[in-house]
Amino acid sequence: ALEIAVLHEPDGRGGSAWVHANVKAGDRLRIRGPRNHFRLDESLPKAIFIAGGIGITPVSAMARRAKALGMDYELHYSGRSRASMAFVDELAALHGERLHVHATDEGRRNDLRALLATPVPGAQVYACGPLRMLEALEDCCAAWPEGALRVEHFESTLATLDPSKEHAFEVELKDSGLVITVPPDQTLLTALRAANVDVQSDCEEGLCGSCEVRVLAGKVDHRDVVLTRSERDANTKMMACCSRACEGRLVLEL
Ligand code: FES
Repeated sequence: ALEIAVLHEPDGRGGSAWVHANVKAGDRLRIRGPRNHFRLDESLPKAIFIAGGIGITPVSAMARRAKALGMDYELHYSGRSRASMAFVDELAALHGERLHVHATDEGRRNDLRALLATPVPGAQVYACGPLRMLEALEDCCAAWPEGALRVEHFESTLATLDPSKEHAFEVELKDSGLVITVPPDQTLLTALRAANVDVQSDCEEGLCGSCEVRVLAGKVDHRDVVLTRSERDANTKMMACCSRACEGRLVLEL
């Protein structure tokens, strides 16, 4: 069985509102298998999980797995009030003293800086929550080894495409031999589809990783929040829904 949590976002694009209006416990839904860019490294001895609000969704599954594996872990969960935070009782029952609930209305803010002041050898930090929290964490983990912090975003930082600030670029598709021009007012994804090249997508906001394509040559201007810094630097993949070319032409494995 799969357990899902969907925060009702009245000002979103309609997906969560639809789920809240139409889906009831016991309904049968057709779903696509999960895609995961936010994996638990089961080879490490220690995990520090940090969740803000509905960011608990992926983090709770990881914490459950860490417990099953007998890993050393701690789970920090913050929100405005316990009443607004999903799964608090279930998490408390499962994780006992490893769970730390930080509810603002109880005067318990999560002091991330104190929590992460000293890097813990062999520990990985996993965080999912609002953008402000994730940015603060980047800062708090500055002294930690590269890659020790793994984050999952649920809101996009992407502004809408502003054609006056963009430039056109070419992509060469290695497998099909096509060369396509992506104009300033189009995403790579749209241009590929217009040329009948099928690329999957889901969020189209640089969040989910479904539209990943392999890059063989050219310098990518990465705009997603999926890839880690070292993945960006490696320049071997890009998200077609938002990322573009820095200049010149990109060669893609398509
Ligand atoms: S469709 Fe989600 S990152 Fe591109």
